[in-house]
Formats: sequence, structure tokens, C-alpha cells
Amino acid sequence: MTPDLFAAEPSPAERAAQLRAQLHHHAHRYYTLDDPEIPDAEYDRLFRELQSIEAAHPELLTSDSPTQRVGGRVLDAFTPVRHRVPMLSINTETDTEPSGARNFDTRVRRALGLVEADAPVDFVAELKFDGLAMSLRYEGGVLVQAATRGDGEVGEEVTTNVRTIAQVPLRLPAAAPPVLEVRGEVYMRRDDFDALNDKQRAKIAAGAKGEKTFVNPRNAAAGAVRQLDSGIAAQRPLSFFAYGLGEITPPDQGGPAFESHFELLMQLKAWGFPVAEQTALCRGADALVEFHQHIGASRDQLPYDIDGVVYKVNSLALQRQLGFVTREPRWAVAHKYPAQEQLTTVLAIDVQVGRTGKLTPVAKLAPVFVGGVTVTNATLHNEDEARRKDVRVGDTVIVRRAGDVIPEVVSVLLDKRVGDPMPFTMPHTCPVCGSTSVREEGEVDYRCSGGLFCSAQRKQALVHFAGRQAMDMEGFGEEIIDRFVEAEKLSTVVDFFRLNSDALVGFVLREEPFVYKSGSAQTKVVKIQKELAKKLVASVEKSRTRPLRRVIFGLGIRHVGETTARDLARFFGTMERLLKANLETLLLIENLGLTTARSIVEFFAEKHNRKVVLELLKELSPQEQPGNEPVQSIPFFRLLSELSIKGIGMVTFKQVVTSYPTPQKLLEAGDADLLLVGSPPMKICDELRKAKWQIALQLVNEIGLSWQIEEGENAPQLGLAGKTIVITGSMESMSRERAKELAEISGAKVAGSVSRKTDLVLAGPRAGSKLADAIKLGVHVIDEVAFLKLLADSGVEI
Ligand code: IVH
Repeated sequence: MTPDLFAAEPSPAERAAQLRAQLHHHAHRYYTLDDPEIPDAEYDRLFRELQSIEAAHPELLTSDSPTQRVGGRVLDAFTPVRHRVPMLSINTETDTEPSGARNFDTRVRRALGLVEADAPVDFVAELKFDGLAMSLRYEGGVLVQAATRGDGEVGEEVTTNVRTIAQVPLRLPAAAPPVLEVRGEVYMRRDDFDALNDKQRAKIAAGAKGEKTFVNPRNAAAGAVRQLDSGIAAQRPLSFFAYGLGEITPPDQGGPAFESHFELLMQLKAWGFPVAEQTALCRGADALVEFHQHIGASRDQLPYDIDGVVYKVNSLALQRQLGFVTREPRWAVAHKYPAQEQLTTVLAIDVQVGRTGKLTPVAKLAPVFVGGVTVTNATLHNEDEARRKDVRVGDTVIVRRAGDVIPEVVSVLLDKRVGDPMPFTMPHTCPVCGSTSVREEGEVDYRCSGGLFCSAQRKQALVHFAGRQAMDMEGFGEEIIDRFVEAEKLSTVVDFFRLNSDALVGFVLREEPFVYKSGSAQTKVVKIQKELAKKLVASVEKSRTRPLRRVIFGLGIRHVGETTARDLARFFGTMERLLKANLETLLLIENLGLTTARSIVEFFAEKHNRKVVLELLKELSPQEQPGNEPVQSIPFFRLLSELSIKGIGMVTFKQVVTSYPTPQKLLEAGDADLLLVGSPPMKICDELRKAKWQIALQLVNEIGLSWQIEEGENAPQLGLAGKTIVITGSMESMSRERAKELAEISGAKVAGSVSRKTDLVLAGPRAGSKLADAIKLGVHVIDEVAFLKLLADSGVEI
């Protein structure tokens, strides 16, 4: 809603009336209907605004003001219960600093008349559970009544429902006093909550009427406790924590005499009540501060929601001495953590394009402080999610940010929707490059089909490649890469290695609005730019020796994360081998599934990708060879599969290995024996027989007769792999271009000129000065026939 700028500000009386009406409404939704429309933080804000108006204008205070009553209404259908000892509330401070505990300590010490020289006060620090308060009454050791807090004086009888909570003891040990009221919190664990909501969703999907999902665990717990049908309540998994006492048989009538709160908690635990294990005895303010910090940091790991911590003076004698202010004990305080949910409005719904082309709808939000940070974006994940939540531009939404989790839109406040905004639809073209976007069957995501034609994907691919987990090129953040792509300095990952620092000057700094700069200031800017450009080029240089696993990860192959990249590097040892990998070979890697294997094969089958990877290899000297990664044995079937014997798949490989544990055995095997290997069809057997000589030869010659080889110093250099070759002159069976391509496929590096580092020179007729160079430097020269044999040895099909 656009605020009416010409409307007069309401008077304090008008505003107070407005707030009261709103608070009544929300309290009813929250307490009676268990269906809140706004997050607690928003309710608290309205509540505090009313409190401050009433404080400034006491004449406006009315007896029915929500500020005069703590808690909610009693549902008509439940029997009211008058608490024999009122259920009080605690002074709750939204002070989110751990040091806030010191103010409490100071207040307590002052009220007790303690001076600095006096000993520190002992406190009990507890969690502030986010459920609903409950009073459990036991008579003669039997649970006779469970009551909600209500307004603190009168609550509701919910015994039948509470009896369904497994953690609530129905009978106490004989040592328990004749009358005992235990106070605590009924709550729902997060996993139970998720399971319950899953169940609810399934019911709704199956067409069940009147079912709904729950906003949060507290809301679900409250709903369960107030179920009129206890059969339904029994199906809602609830839990309980004890944290205090109501009525208890006094010591002079045989009841126990406690001296401290901690002692009481330990006794409750002994009687069978759950007491949170985080409960801590804290000596002095520093210990409270530490507790606050520790719980704050581990809050998200707890299996249930808490909204803060509670500090209580431990000694019951001191508690009595401190007493109460109005309805709150002076001996306890609650300190809340920053709210994890807040209200805000949706300014727009953008669609972002990720590295793999995934289109993600993102809600742009009016900035809001939630979970300790200012949030301006919240992902809507995908079209289904955006539709399910029905988020539209202009909507008021609840955003949640818990811990380091990315902010999320929890739900839309439908009754605050203004007008009739359009429901969100996913665009059928990429918002960046205009290519069609497609949603494959069975997938939730739309993807831009533009591949690396799409500048968004290209940028993201580059950012990923330069990223910390990949090539770790310092200084190449999203912004710089963006600018370099715009300036056409970068297009593929290979371009990083061709960046020239002189050409970068002028692009390394963000363009500033035109400001006149004096000559010397201008010189200074140029100097900074030059230095920056040099730094960037230097960090590219440094990345040339990154290990293979990082290079593989950096390619950004879909489904290939750091772990898979590491496994691939270990298994293949070189990028060249990985390039040749087929589905079956990939599936030999443990923990590598079909989806990932397919995605890898598809990636390398794509012409552009292949070209980029081959060019990239020339730029890199990844220490991918032996020694870099932990030593790992290469199974025999990997070698077999490298030979790509027609028609023989993984299963047959494994059978061969099992039947013939050594290469000699395979050599000795007769055709009839081979036929027995998993009874392969004749044709396969034929292939295997032909291949066995090839296999055996290779194994005998290069591996030294072992099915298992160690990836160490002696790792085999199959055929041309890893060699640097120079090609000169013409070929008979193929063009020079083709020879070059095949050499690269086999894992060789093709160089343009002969040096001492050259391993081989392939020379055909009309070879020129390169042949002369080779002879001069003593480099091994081969002819076309030898070359073809080496290719065959490398398993390359010509
Ligand atoms: S003690 C006189 N301890 O917070 C003190 N309350 O305003 C009585 N709560 O709704 C309460 N965890 O349900 C206490 N460890 C804890 C608590 C706790 C949660 C709730 C309680 C009540 C509110 C107190």
C-alpha cells in the first residue's frame, strides 16, 4: 500500500486504539485459533509501540488493553483451571548482545545490596524453549491435571492431550511429594515438525478437506495441545522440558526442602522429567556471557527451536529476597536472540541464471534486519516453490533466516495483498541471452539452453573456475570478471591465461562518474591500475600449477563437486584419460552414479567444451602426474576399459578379472575357456580373444605383469600420453591437422617447435627445418607407421 502522504498523523489516542484493535485481533489468531498471521517480532513491535504510548500518556491506558493482560483467551470448549500458584512471565529483553547479562547481574547485586568485594552470585542459565508453557499437577504421584498458562491466573485443562506426550511421566516414583506441580514447556522437535508437515501436505494432495500445514513448530505444538479430539493430538509428536515448580507439599507437611533452583532441576530429572542438558550453573556475569555466546553459536544445531536464554538466580533464599516487580520475578530474565523471522515487502521477482543455466526466481525485498543481518534477497528456489507459496510483487511476506542458512520466504500474508498482482510465471526465454528456457521432464528447474552463448552462464562459469575451491585466482571476483566479459577480454576459461596486463589497464577499476582529475591524480590512478592489472596476471600465473582435481572441479561439469573431481583426478591421473572416459569406465569409480557419469560424458562430448579443455591443457601444468594425489591402485579393469574393446562392458571386464587373476592366465586361456567367462556371446568372445594379446602385451611390456598397478613414480605412460610431440611434413593416411588432433586425444601435447623438452618428432615427407632441429638436438624421430602404432597403444581409434 502506498502511504497517503497527505493524511494527518493519527493522534496518540487514535494510534493507541488502532494498536489495541490490531493486537486483540492478532492475539486471538495466535492464542485461540493457533493460526498467527504475523511473526512474533511484528507482534512484539506493535505491543511495544502501544506500551510506549501508554507510558507517555497514562490517561489513555484502559483496563482492557492487551498490555494489561499477559497471554491469551481460554477456549470455550476447554474447562478453565485456576492456577493455585500463578504462572508468571519473565522479563524478556531483546538485548541481543551477550554482554547484556552483566546488566542483569548488576541489577541483582544492587537489589541484594552486594558490593564489589562480595562474592559473585550463582545463576542457572537455561534455554528459552519456543513452545507453550504447561503446568502438570501430580497428586499421590499420579498425573491428575495438565493446564495451559492462559492469562497466568486461569488456564485451560488439557490433561487428555498432554497424557499423549511420551516424555511426560504419568506416575512418579514413590519418593515424590503428595502434591507436585511441575512447570515446563511443551514443544515440537524440528524433525517431528517436518514429518508432520509432510504428512499434512500428503493429506492435502490426496484431497483431504480442512487440513493445513503449520507455520512453525510452536504453532504446531499449540495446535496439538488444544486439539479437542485427543485422538488427533496423539498423532502429533510433542515433547516436554521441565524448568520450574508450581504448588508443592511444604516441608513441614513432608515435602522436600530445596535450597537452590539447580537442586530442584536435578530432583525433577530424578523423578523422570526431561531437563535440557544445556542447563548450566554459572558463577557470576562472565559465565552467563559465555553461556549466551555458546548457545548462540550452537543454536541451529539443537533439534528444537529456542528463542533465547533464561538466567535465574540459583539460591531460592535469594530469589525470595529479590521478589517480584508487578508480575515478573526480579530474579530471572530472558535474553532473546535476534528474531529469525520478519515481515517485509516484495519489490520485484527477478530470475537469475546460474552457471549451469539454472533459472532461479529470486524475491527482491525491501531491506529487513533478520537473523542478525540485513536481507534484501530471498530465493524462491524454482517455479513450483514460487507458485506453491504464491509470492507476488507487492506482497507482504514473512522472511526467515536461521544461522548461516540462506534467507527464505516462509509465507505470504494474503490479507495484506493489495489489488490483484499477477501470479509468478517462469519466463520461457532466458532473461539474459534470450535463448529458450526448458524444463525437462521430471525436473523442477528451468534451464537456459544457451550454454556458454549465454553471458550469464559464461560469467558464472568463469567465476567458478577462478574461485577459491577451483583455480584460486586471487582478485578475480564476480565484479572484475563481469567487467572483463563486457570488455571482451574474457570469454572462455582459456582466456584467463592470455590476459595481458597492459591491455587490462583501464578495465580493472570500476568506472567512476566523471570527475576532473589533476594531472598528478590522474597519474596516480593509472599507477594503481597498472599494479592491479599486474597482480591479476600474476595470480593467473600462479594458478597454472594447480592440481588436476581443482582443474576438473573448475570446469563446472554439472553434478561434479569437489569430491567427485578429486575421485576423477585420482582415478584417471591425467585430464587426457578423463577426456576419453566412457560411461562404463566412469561407473567403475566408487560413489559415482549414472547421472554424474552421463553428465561428464556429455560435457566432454560437446565440441566446444572439448576444444576449450584441450586448449586449457596447453596452458596448464597441473601436477597431475604421480605423487600429487594419495597413492591409489588402479584396478585392472580400468586398463581393460581403456583399451575400449568393442562390445565388452564393465560386467565382462569384471568377469575376466575374476576368472583370470593374472595376465599370464589370460594369455594361457583357450578359446573354449574364454567362452565360459560369463558365457559371453560368440562375437564378444572373439573380440576378447583378439584383444587378449593386445592386453597381455601391454601388461607384460609396460606394467610388469600385475593386474593392480600403483599410481606412483612408475605409473605407466601409455603410448603417447604425457609426451610432447612436434609434427612436421605431410602424412599419407591423414592430414596433419588430424594427426595433431589424434595425438592430443591420446594425451600428448603438440608443440609448434622443437626444443630439448620435445619427446618425439613425427616427420613425414617434405619435412623441413624441424626435422633438422630434431637431429641436431638428438630428439627421437618417428615415422607415420610408428606413430599409428603408438596411437593404437594409447587406445585411440583412428
Ligand atoms: S521460567 C517465573 N524458564 O517463557 C518464571 N520460562 O515469560 C517462569 N519459557 O511462556 C518462567 N523457556 O513458557 C522459564 N527455561 C525457561 C523457559 C521459559 C521458555 C517460556 C515460558 C513462558 C515464558 C516466560
